[in-house]
Amino acid sequence: MALVSVNGSIYKPEDAKISVYDRGFLFGDAIYEVFRSYGKILFTLEQHLDRLYRSANAIQLDIGYTPNELVEQIYDFYKKENIEDVYIRLQISRGNCAKEQINLSPNNTGKANIVMYLHDLKLPSPQTYEKGMSLYCTHIRRNTKLSMDPNIKSGNYLNNIIALLPKDSSKYHDTFFLDHEEYVTEGTTFNIFMVKNGVVQTCPNQSDILQGITRDIVFHCADKANIDIKQDKFRLKALYNADEVFITSSTKEIMPVTKIDQEVIGSGRPGAITKKLIQQYKDFVQQYLANAKSQHPWRVDV
Ligand SMILES: Cc1ncc(COP(=O)(O)O)c(C=O)c1O
Repeated sequence: MALVSVNGSIYKPEDAKISVYDRGFLFGDAIYEVFRSYGKILFTLEQHLDRLYRSANAIQLDIGYTPNELVEQIYDFYKKENIEDVYIRLQISRGNCAKEQINLSPNNTGKANIVMYLHDLKLPSPQTYEKGMSLYCTHIRRNTKLSMDPNIKSGNYLNNIIALLPKDSSKYHDTFFLDHEEYVTEGTTFNIFMVKNGVVQTCPNQSDILQGITRDIVFHCADKANIDIKQDKFRLKALYNADEVFITSSTKEIMPVTKIDQEVIGSGRPGAITKKLIQQYKDFVQQYLANAKSQHPWRVDV
């Protein structure tokens, strides 16, 4: 099941079209968000929209709608399909190049192009959560904040794609980066945490990462479960020697990692703290849904 919305018109994926002068297509001059629903409620949509507008502000892209107007558009789109758990990608480009001339200048472009993709949610298998993922550390360094800030969720993912090119990376589930000073940063589409001696650690907010919404929820979950958590840089060697490692993203939630490069992490099975946080995360989702039902009943009526 899949649908695409292009500037408010809805199409089957094979019929959806944008201009070849679209700046997202030509230059990656676009921003995006990916979010999912649980039982027809779009999870942490507010946080995703906050981040979308932060990304827009950072590159001076005029979305052309208020967050509330976008929420209406997203739910109107979602209403077209009767899917309980859905994947939505909202992609907004700076519009088409002016006068159909290829021109890098961000001035005098047309209105933003707003494209939404709605798909069945494809999640990792239960066995992957039971066994844990394997990760490969790429030799490609993460973009620095001083060049292309990873905290802008832009449509330009070449840094992440290049990281997936080395042949060796295809033997692993996914790939992650070090920064230019060789500290661990984040993965191609996820944030990374390690656990050592009962303390959870991840790199600081100011690192070259996208500040994941799931990452933020992990801080809340650790707090609830009385688990110590700190933001501090760490090296690849510390990650190899961690007792537990896990990664986070909106679609993976909290995913254990049991192998990094040639190294087995901890016992080679998902660890106790990771499992505790996974349970806390599930509780957080249930609480969120219960609150959403009472506070925003119109949202459930998809
Ligand atoms: C580079 C990168 N880091 C981290 C994340 C995780 O972010 P979130 O938890 O908000 O899904 C993503 C998600 O797409 C990402 O692309």
